Parts: sequence; structure tokens; C-alpha cells
Amino acid sequence: MRDTTSLLPLIVRDLRLERDGRVLLDVPIARIQNRQRNVILGPNGAGKSLFLKTCHGLVPPTSGSIEFTRPASAADNRRKQAMVFQKPVMLRRSVRANFMHALAMAGVGWRERRRIATETMAQFGLSSLADMPARVLSGGEQQRLAIARAASLWPDLLFLDEPTSSLDPTASRQIEDMLEILHERGVTLVLTTHDLGLARRFADVILFFHNGRLVEESNAERFFTAPQTPEAKAFLEHRLFW
Ligand SMILES: Nc1ncnc2c1ncn2[C@@H]1O[C@H](COP(=O)(O)OP(=O)(O)OP(=O)(O)O)[C@@H](O)[C@H]1O
Ligand SMILES: [Mg+2]
Repeated sequence: MRDTTSLLPLIVRDLRLERDGRVLLDVPIARIQNRQRNVILGPNGAGKSLFLKTCHGLVPPTSGSIEFTRPASAADNRRKQAMVFQKPVMLRRSVRANFMHALAMAGVGWRERRRIATETMAQFGLSSLADMPARVLSGGEQQRLAIARAASLWPDLLFLDEPTSSLDPTASRQIEDMLEILHERGVTLVLTTHDLGLARRFADVILFFHNGRLVEESNAERFFTAPQTPEAKAFLEHRLFW
């Protein structure tokens, strides 16, 4: 049974990340909103992936805090959030075994693992690939597997780094459809992209980054119709590259 008690929103305060004297992230305040489709938007090198990894706890910030609204134990933190990387990480085993392994790692018993794996593969159109070695799947299929595998654990919060960046339009649409299903089921989504088309179709909330700074945080409709900053205006007119 899914635990629907949410720890969200996730609130980022006074976040700075510095490496070799360079400020890579500078975010006075940002919110990851509960049950929303949060999109981290910005040109190449803006700091989107670093921000995502920092929020997920993979990159420790130089200073600042990233906190759930309710105090969360370390175990809660791990269980309630997942991340899908830009290049999907697969086990060298079958598609089904990839699900079984992820579920085992999360402490799910064997019978339950089989049931959840079968159900999740059916839900996301992967049943016919169940016995294929994951490594031979196409890029789009691997991305679907990576997302479905993360989804099988029903995290409250799912981070995705450029989930459609190397995919053709059909495969991209399949990924977007999967993300819609997760959104409808109440999963809070945070994805990075530099793709304005995807951001326009998908986002409820935009966090727009440029040069490591969160320049604009806005609901998506307002961002696209009335951007408040010169950087966002330039990006929307394809005039801002880095
Ligand atoms: N581990 C690191 N050490 C030092 N600098 C880093 C590190 N990781 C990233 N950077 C730098 O931080 C900046 C932001 O990188 P990041 O990967 O977050 O950008 P991005 O917005 O995701 O870009 P893209 O759209 O190309 O994926 C870049 O200038 C990059 O060179
Ligand atoms: Mg990136």
C-alpha cells in the first residue's frame, strides 16, 4: 500500500555550491511544490543537473539547506525519493530482473516483487520486453525501463535529468505519457530540460536557471506569457545560450 504522507514541499535555502573558486550554484530560495510538474529550465551549463543532484542529496552543497517541510529520517529520505539519470543505468540482466533487483533493494518481499514488476511492466508497455537483456534495449526503451523501475517503488518525489534529450519524437511522447500517469497518481515530478517545447507542454511550475543562479521561479503559464527577467525573455526568444 502506498504511503501518501508527503514530506513536500522541499525547500531550498541559501544554497551555494563552489568548486575551485567558481560559484556553480547560487539559490537564495526555491521550492519543489507538492504534486506538481516542476521543470528546471535553462540553457546548457546553467546548473540544472547540479541543482537536481544537490536536491536529491547526491552532491553536498558548500552551504545552505535542502529540507522537507516535515522532518524526515534518513530512511524516509531514501525511500521517498528517486532519481532517473540522463544516461539510464541498467543492470546487465533482463528487464524483469532490473525491476526485481530495485524492489529487493527497497526491502520488498519476493512474491510482492514479482507482482509489482509484472504490473509495472504492463502499465508502461514493457511486458513484451520482460525477458530481454536490458543492455540491448533501444535508448527510448531503456529510458522507459529506468522511469518505470523508479516508479515501481512509488516515490513521493521523482527527479529526472533530461529524460527525453536523446530520444526521437515518438519515444519522447511515450516518456511524457508515462510522466503524466505518475503525475495523475500524485507523484511530485522534478525534471530538467533545455527543451522549450517539452517545458511548455509539461510544466506546472518553472524554475529557470542561468549561470548557476535561479533567475525566475514562476507558475508555467505566467513564465511563458509574461517572463519577468531579461534572461528569461531572451531564452524564450532563443537569444540566450549561456
Ligand atoms: N563536479 C563538478 N566539478 C566542477 N564543475 C562542475 C561539476 N559538475 C558540473 N560542473 C560545472 O557546473 C556548470 C553547470 O553544470 P550542469 O551540468 O549542472 O549544467 P546543465 O544546466 O545541466 O547543462 P546541460 O544542459 O548541458 O546538461 C558547468 O559549467 C559545469 O562545467
Ligand atoms: Mg544537465
